[in-house]
Amino acid sequence: MAFSPAFLDELNQRNPIEDVVGAYVALTRKGSNLFGLCPFHGEKTASFSVKPEKGIYYCFGCHKGGGAVNFIMEIESLSYPDAVRFLAKRAGLEVPEDNRDNSQYKKKERLWALSRDAARFFNEQLRTPGAESVRAYIARRGLTKSTVTHFGLGYAPNTWNALMDAMIAKGYTKQELLEAGLVSKHREKGTLYDRFRNRLMFPIIDVRGNVIGFGGRVMDDSKPKYLNTDETIIFNKRRNLFAMNFAKKSKQGHIILTEGYMDAIALHQYGFDCAVASLGTSLTQEHADILSKYTDEVVLTYDGDQAGQNATKRAIPMLEKTGLKVKILQMKGAKDPDEFLHKFGADRFKLLLSGSENQAEYRLRSLEARFDLTIDEQKVEFAKQAAELISSYATAVEREIYGAKAAQAAGISSDVMKQQISRAYKQRMAAQKKAQEKKQLDVYAAHQPHNRQIRYDNMRSAIAEETVLKMLLRENALFETAKELKPQHFSVPMFAKAYETLRRHWAEDHNAGVAMLSEVLTQEEMAHMTAIIHKDDPPISQEAFADCLRVIMSEARKASGEGDLRSLQEAMRKKKGYGGT
Ligand code: UTP
Ligand code: MN
Repeated sequence: MAFSPAFLDELNQRNPIEDVVGAYVALTRKGSNLFGLCPFHGEKTASFSVKPEKGIYYCFGCHKGGGAVNFIMEIESLSYPDAVRFLAKRAGLEVPEDNRDNSQYKKKERLWALSRDAARFFNEQLRTPGAESVRAYIARRGLTKSTVTHFGLGYAPNTWNALMDAMIAKGYTKQELLEAGLVSKHREKGTLYDRFRNRLMFPIIDVRGNVIGFGGRVMDDSKPKYLNTDETIIFNKRRNLFAMNFAKKSKQGHIILTEGYMDAIALHQYGFDCAVASLGTSLTQEHADILSKYTDEVVLTYDGDQAGQNATKRAIPMLEKTGLKVKILQMKGAKDPDEFLHKFGADRFKLLLSGSENQAEYRLRSLEARFDLTIDEQKVEFAKQAAELISSYATAVEREIYGAKAAQAAGISSDVMKQQISRAYKQRMAAQKKAQEKKQLDVYAAHQPHNRQIRYDNMRSAIAEETVLKMLLRENALFETAKELKPQHFSVPMFAKAYETLRRHWAEDHNAGVAMLSEVLTQEEMAHMTAIIHKDDPPISQEAFADCLRVIMSEARKASGEGDLRSLQEAMRKKKGYGGT
């Protein structure tokens, strides 16, 4: 999503950095800057600075920094376009999007508003006389008042039109109610009626805080136990997770993935604010990708029954593919976390968490369980598959330990097992290398500028050049570090121009902003520059900056004729002059 620079300018002007940051961090003024405790890493002395006149923040501790948009992306865990929308809303600005998108987005906004109002309606119903049975049910399930409020739980009354009437009175249309999945159409008569009736309601909220759908539970044994919103333009089961809006802000260092709404809710009630639940579907690769954006480790707490075990097995490779660490938590004496917590309490659950069975052990054991190891042919097949499995374990120590275990189980010597594993390991490495190379090519292709007039001929250098410019704009003081970098080192002409201009401005008045580039760059180049600056990749460290400088200069050296003899001699002479050996 590319927003116009004019809009972004306006957006930044209407969202002064000190106000945006100030809503999250207590700031004290020191001279023209403001300081506070960095919200992105734990600290006791203030190393987080805000420069109102430049519209940027920077943490000297964890090196995070940027403008108002970057701050919101980081602290609210939003993508770039969503952070822009967040700030636009804050300032009462309209977001210019292309026309088709615009109407689609407007429609979504209506459905979000409708869903929010419906959630409010259901919640208010909890306090009506007719809701006695659901209040009793909530109490029986051990949910506290504050849990009910936190999750905005509610009650869908036992009528065919209570919600519909209330929402129409608020100005929503029947069409909108249908599109939000809140009412259904009678097959023959074509009349509309409330989809959720006499159910305990669980609003489903996306990571941006929008209500997008509902789960509704019956309070007896009737079927279906849970009714969920069908797919709508705002509700996609494959891409959303219940309670992710809370879990994304958790400081617990992992995300606990559960199978049920009630499990996630109970975990939160007992202090595990990192719990989420899938929405009545099995985990998808999209879920896994999203989880990997918010955490490094996922704890699986699926039910102990066969279905739960199968779900666990399916989930592991999807999660691992994204680089996530996976832990499997196995409960004894309870079928799911909800039951476990009410029976045994939070401390016992903490113990379970700290002892989460590691997946290496788990996977080997579940493989073993599939074979009858008293039969020779089965032993052979098990040994083969175990070698394949163990070759995927990340460390040599794990491969050694579990190799020995598998050998013992199969009744073969551990040397033979070792050979098998090592052969499988080599094949795996070769395949990985190939995949890596392909990925590299894809990255390069994705980095080619959209505008055809700007080409990156030396991709390695160009990516480093992007980073360097981005960081220099973010933290002008880095010009100090970049003293040796000359415009002629750049491989992309527009970057050379940009660098030269910025450096000149910095030398003149120690102030180099992207706005100054309008004087030397064409509109297209300027748009490309803006796109680069606003590309939503993570803040980069000083070391990475130094690395980029090295890459640019070494690529430049290569380009100017391999090992240009004169400069080599000069470099050696200089070195001698400094007293080097
Ligand atoms: P469970 O049957 O394990 O229920 O379904 P639960 O979450 O433990 O709920 P309680 O404790 O019985 O109240 C797990 C999840 O599967 C989906 C729901 O998302 C539920 O939370 N599900 C289950 C449905 O969508 N429809 C159903 O009819 C049943
Ligand atoms: Mn349950």
